[in-house]
Amino acid sequence: MRDAPLPTVGILGGTGPLGRGLALRLALAGYEVVLGSRKTERAVGVADGLRDDHGVGVDVLWGAANHEAAARDVVIVAVPFDGVRPLLEPIGDLLADTVVISCVNRLGFDGDGPHPLPVEEGSAAELIARLVPRAQVAAAFHHVPAGRLTRDTGPLDMDVLIAGDDGLPHVRELVEAIDGVRAVSAGPLRLSRPLEELTAVVIAVNKHYKVTAGVRLTGLPDTA
Ligand SMILES: NC(=O)c1ccc[n+]([C@@H]2O[C@H](COP(=O)([O-])OP(=O)(O)OC[C@H]3O[C@@H](n4cnc5c(N)ncnc54)[C@H](OP(=O)(O)O)[C@@H]3O)[C@@H](O)[C@H]2O)c1
Repeated sequence: MRDAPLPTVGILGGTGPLGRGLALRLALAGYEVVLGSRKTERAVGVADGLRDDHGVGVDVLWGAANHEAAARDVVIVAVPFDGVRPLLEPIGDLLADTVVISCVNRLGFDGDGPHPLPVEEGSAAELIARLVPRAQVAAAFHHVPAGRLTRDTGPLDMDVLIAGDDGLPHVRELVEAIDGVRAVSAGPLRLSRPLEELTAVVIAVNKHYKVTAGVRLTGLPDTA
């Protein structure tokens, strides 16, 4: 039983498929979630739609500008790779002493399908750690197909691999609050690069089989 209140959550880029899906699932799990956008009215519209569709209260999920979403205990970055620097450079100070979760993948798509693109800092999560050095940065949710989060709200039956040097207890708890998700600690933040790159494989598999599968590891102890 938790004796402290749950941390509050902000989602930067919360109007995209992943951000809105995480916002919904975390709100359903009891978190207070601020869904952020570069445009306040867009965030408000998306949050209103999620509440109307899923019966979530306005006290647990609402829309706001990204800088308001950034002023929360845990902040999820759910923007395309090219948006990371322009998003975080102006608001990085707000993220000091905050747990920041990166879902960002840098992928390319061509005639042979999805493929990882190089990131000078190693990975998108490591770029974020460079841009917000006083935050505790973790990488998670890379392999979760966004459509699965909102298609229905049933259990997901998948693992979320987490890489991060700090803040993992908060992150694990948040990940496991989503129905049917097991948090798997993958190691330090430098392992975010292979996690991000593996997303290309997951997308290729999903395209091949025309499904929205996630990742599951076998043989882990119950307390993984
Ligand atoms: N979609 C998935 O299934 C999935 C799964 C796992 C991980 N991811 C990763 O999670 C991230 C978000 O995925 P997504 O599919 O939700 O992305 P998306 O729809 O392309 O973008 C999400 C939101 O980011 C904001 N945005 C777009 N360009 C931006 C920029 N240049 N600067 C700042 N904000 C910008 C937009 O919100 P506003 O215009 O409202 O500001 C947009 O709605 C990506 O890095 C992706 O690789 C996606």
